[in-house]
Amino acid sequence: MELAWIAAGVALLVLAYLVRSLRALHRKINRNADRVSRELSGQTSRIKEEIGHAYHQVEALEQLLPILKLKAPLPASRGWAASPDFLLALSHITQKVRPKLAVELGSGTSTLVLAKSGAKKIISLDHSVDFGNQTKEMLASHGVRGVDIRIHELETYPQGYKWYAKSTFKGLAKIDLLVIDGPPSSTNPDARYPALAHLIPLLSPKATIVLDDVFRDEERKLADDILAALPGHTMKILAHEKGTAVIAPRLGK
Ligand SMILES: C[S@@+](CC[C@H](N)C(=O)[O-])C[C@H]1O[C@@H](n2cnc3c(N)ncnc32)[C@H](O)[C@@H]1O
Repeated sequence: MELAWIAAGVALLVLAYLVRSLRALHRKINRNADRVSRELSGQTSRIKEEIGHAYHQVEALEQLLPILKLKAPLPASRGWAASPDFLLALSHITQKVRPKLAVELGSGTSTLVLAKSGAKKIISLDHSVDFGNQTKEMLASHGVRGVDIRIHELETYPQGYKWYAKSTFKGLAKIDLLVIDGPPSSTNPDARYPALAHLIPLLSPKATIVLDDVFRDEERKLADDILAALPGHTMKILAHEKGTAVIAPRLGK
């Protein structure tokens, strides 16, 4: 009889242990399921966002191609290169502004877009011999002549930063359209910020400034500070893939 009580006690203990273990396992499975579900929903949002971006880039490219009247292939867009939504906006701005002098920081397809959209004189600064020469070859393959691509490695300034060499923009004046898409942020922190000190004083009073990548904090700060330096101007942020800022004279100015 005593043995039976002991056996029943042990059975109860085992049962309690099993129930406890099962509950712990259940909690663990629930926690993991929650984590997997959160991760899946994050990935799904990112995939949806990327499909949205890709679709908008196709829409922009379709509108851009008739303007460019291509004679040769275009380099790949997006990533390091400008995205079609930025390039389409740049084309329309160039057609509207009809700049006598357009200056660009960071050459590429944007240089071709400037040339094909009616910019009269284009000066494009590039710090890279390879990429600057690629742009030159690409322009030649499209039959575009007369663009002044100034290739020079970045120069170290007394303030400690590296930026386009003074010799490449010395003597420039009355810039009607300034495109800021370089140097790359990999070259030094706040890589594009010196454009404020060096090129804003060289703008014509009605100049338009177009900045790529303003969804990054550094480029957004540069755009805000350029706007603050030009009280007669106003800024529009276009919800492009990488964010585009367009700083233009206020209407009526
Ligand atoms: C943001 S990119 C300029 C893009 C250009 N405005 C365009 O329309 O494609 C800035 C600089 O990065 C360099 N660059 C371009 N493509 C690159 C690549 N795939 N890898 C590393 N640097 C690159 C070039 O020297 C260029 O001046």
